[in-house]
Amino acid sequence: MNFLNLTMVNVYNHTFGSNRKSKQKKIVAGLPGILVAASVLLPDHEGFPKETVEKLIELLDNNKEDANMSENKTLKNLMAAFAGEAEANRKYTAYAKKAAQEGKLNAAKLFRAAADAETLHALKHFEVAGKIGSTADNLKDGIKGETYEYKEMYPDFVKEAEAEGNKAALMSFKFAMKAEEVHAGLYKDALENIDQTEEVFYYLCPVCGNIEKVRPDKCRICGVPGERFIKY
Ligand SMILES: [Fe+2]
Ligand SMILES: [Fe+2]
Repeated sequence: MNFLNLTMVNVYNHTFGSNRKSKQKKIVAGLPGILVAASVLLPDHEGFPKETVEKLIELLDNNKEDANMSENKTLKNLMAAFAGEAEANRKYTAYAKKAAQEGKLNAAKLFRAAADAETLHALKHFEVAGKIGSTADNLKDGIKGETYEYKEMYPDFVKEAEAEGNKAALMSFKFAMKAEEVHAGLYKDALENIDQTEEVFYYLCPVCGNIEKVRPDKCRICGVPGERFIKY
């Protein structure tokens, strides 16, 4: 505790007695630096303005709660907006593909432009929310997310799709579940070799999302021929 804080406690002790320890702590914790600094100017005698100080403490506490609440609300809103924009991006990408198949080229173009716009929004919200760490941290986050998906989320989804007899969903979930396990392994590998300078290539299966470091003869998850894999 610095000198100024001690002065404030002494002033309060002198005025209200030493049985008000919690209030003392509240003052020290609640007063911002500038007020603590100003407290040395408050009168150190019996006429100390108790009501004014207590009112001040209450106001400061309320402000602190308001600040925390709006900070939390905004963070929550940023992440909700991030999720919504990310979803809109994928949705418009699917709509663009459909529009192109139907020969509606202008609509396809608009969907692609709008999809890109939603990506801009999503990335900005995510950045402002402070969710982008160092690459090592981001790889760890990737491992965590993929591991959750293949160990917890998809196994449950698979069971439910089986129970409901939805074969298309079952296949979609199974492909993703197996691919997520591969992704988690690749992130671990990348984290362990984070300082490697030799260039690595990745090959993406365009059907199931499997990723390999060497172009395979065929996908080990869905069986697609290796020549269809996309090189990164
Ligand atoms: Fe994944
Ligand atoms: Fe595949």
